[in-house]
Amino acid sequence: MIYDVITIFPQFFESPFSFGILKKAQEKGLIRINTHDPRKFALDKHNTVDDKPYGGGAGMVFKPEPVAATIESLLNKGSKSIALLTTPQGEVFSDRIAKDLSNYDRVILICGRYEGIDERIREIYVDKEISIGDYIISGGEYAAALIIDAVSRFIPSVLGNEYSPYSDSFREGLLEYPQYTRPEIFKGKKVPEILLSGNHKEIENWRRLESLKRTVIRNPYLLDKTDLSLDEIKYIGQIKTQIHKTRKVYVALVHYPVYNKSLKTITAAFTNLDVHDISRVCRTYGIKGFYLVQPVVEQQKLVEKVLCHWITGPGRSFNPTRAEALKLVSIKNSVDDTVREIEANEGTKPKVVVTDARAREGMIGYNELREKISTGEEPYLILFGTGWGIVKDVIEGADYILKPIESFSDYNHLSVRSAAAVIIDRLLSC
Ligand SMILES: C[S@@+](CC[C@H](N)C(=O)[O-])C[C@H]1O[C@@H](n2cnc3c(N)ncnc32)[C@H](O)[C@@H]1O
Repeated sequence: MIYDVITIFPQFFESPFSFGILKKAQEKGLIRINTHDPRKFALDKHNTVDDKPYGGGAGMVFKPEPVAATIESLLNKGSKSIALLTTPQGEVFSDRIAKDLSNYDRVILICGRYEGIDERIREIYVDKEISIGDYIISGGEYAAALIIDAVSRFIPSVLGNEYSPYSDSFREGLLEYPQYTRPEIFKGKKVPEILLSGNHKEIENWRRLESLKRTVIRNPYLLDKTDLSLDEIKYIGQIKTQIHKTRKVYVALVHYPVYNKSLKTITAAFTNLDVHDISRVCRTYGIKGFYLVQPVVEQQKLVEKVLCHWITGPGRSFNPTRAEALKLVSIKNSVDDTVREIEANEGTKPKVVVTDARAREGMIGYNELREKISTGEEPYLILFGTGWGIVKDVIEGADYILKPIESFSDYNHLSVRSAAAVIIDRLLSC
């Protein structure tokens, strides 16, 4: 594998590859790291490679001509090559990309500096744009070094025969199990007994289960691509349930105060389908309680009648899983009563999150709220509105207003039970 790195700081690459596995790989001729300074292709006697951005603004931009000439000097070498641009706007680098890149004979890495490179370089020469994460570093050299290291590990013989890249984290869609070495006891912490047992089969089994556990807790998205046995799926289910118990999330369906079509404050009537569907979503995602905020006594009686039918009446034996979901339901006169009940249960006032189809300033995003909820530190009450949505005062008095569900269409009229399903999935799915 030949890496051709286009950089105005070739000296950067002397140190990171002058020791360890990558040094050996170069000595064995398995990889070669060439650097190419675009200054050598500059058009003026000062070797200028940057200029001011058209349209004004801070910083400088890499001029296209020296970078283009450098790239062109590397093309058509008769080998399978790919040109990469390091940029925070690219696809986030991953184990999968590293493995794919290891199949090329030559990887050209363009390292940006300043405010980046003239856009036309990207359009004309770049096959793939790679980011190393959602942060800004001062030059593409750091990204290039990281890419070279990760890709080289996939090149046969780079890691030596005794070590396989396929036992690292990610290789089977799982994070690696915890590793220990001597001493047996360090600062009072003992190495797990099983690793001292000498029973290789049991050790292997333990490592697989630890890998599964780490992946579910730290990076559950990886499991999408993992082949699992039925026993492993069951085991993951148990871990998920344990994790879930630490989260304290409640849901309320608010029938008062909500707007009607002409933005008058009203009490909406209870909808059988909403109660049934949202309670099943709540039960599925481990929500601790589903409140119906409904002050009208006649309406309360009606809901109670339906609940009794399914929970203790003839409906129970007909559909016991429905009873299990509906047991989460309780009726409250107001949002304040609901907050008070949760506070009494949890010992802390819940953070109130309102959902609304209308965008406004200062809303919280799904990932941010998901992270807050997952700490398990505080209880959360998520309010869904009936009618034409929850009134302004309740919205403005909440701790968080969640961003509306967005799609690529201009239609935004979900039923509250559909919105609840989408939102709860985004906040609590695994
Ligand atoms: C200061 S940055 C320029 C950032 C550019 N103004 C932008 O916002 O997209 C200079 C160079 O560092 C590299 N770089 C910065 N952050 C990176 C990241 N997260 N991943 C890959 N390369 C990055 C790129 O080569 C970039 O051209």
